[in-house]
Amino acid sequence: MKKLIVGNWKMNPVTLAEANAIFDAIKSGASGSPADVVICPPAIFLPVLKGMSLGAQNIHSEERGAFTGELSAGMVKDLGVVYVIVGHSERRTLFGETDELVNKKVKTALGAGLKVIFCIGETAEERDAGQKQEVLKRQIAKGLAGVGYSDSLVVAYEPVWAIGTGNNCGVEETKESIDFIRTRVKDARVLYGGSVRGDNAKEYLGDAGTDGLLVGGASLKPEEFITIINSAN
Ligand code: PGA
Repeated sequence: MKKLIVGNWKMNPVTLAEANAIFDAIKSGASGSPADVVICPPAIFLPVLKGMSLGAQNIHSEERGAFTGELSAGMVKDLGVVYVIVGHSERRTLFGETDELVNKKVKTALGAGLKVIFCIGETAEERDAGQKQEVLKRQIAKGLAGVGYSDSLVVAYEPVWAIGTGNNCGVEETKESIDFIRTRVKDARVLYGGSVRGDNAKEYLGDAGTDGLLVGGASLKPEEFITIINSAN
């Protein structure tokens, strides 16, 4: 199976002109690439960007209703968007998303026909306390409770301490977590995310045994992101 390389732009860039420029540069650089490439831009750009697979960064847990400012899975699906990220650590930490809410979102998204990129990972404190596997186990058990595993589910292992810090997780340690996740989640592709760059992508796709990468900061830099994509070769 092809490696899956996902770019999470988070709340960047500010203008549509910049979004188009970054997207077009990635699109031309990634054409004929050895990987499946997905871009997750801010939702407002989703209907505009064409020619590569898209993912949303978030959806509401309910299908419709009086939820001012929110976006439903059905709306996203109707635009032709393929994926949605659920359970990202920024949503868990900054927006108070619990395992239970994440679970509802996963079910709503799958029910609407979206593929889910389900994010899990331990904090620095949990890692230092030797609780990593316990945390991953809990996040999987609760976040995926009642969810049938299928090719619509992708798990992204993102140690919280590695996200946006430049402090990427070592290959051995990543492999251990990826292997652990695979024992608990059958048949899902398992990605690594957290300070992935052009110069470290290959080791995750090779020695760490991942099925792909979830890339934040570097996915806004077309040249570097294309280097990451080509590391899947
Ligand atoms: P980063 O973000 O690549 O900037 O560390 C990864 C993520 O948040 O998915």
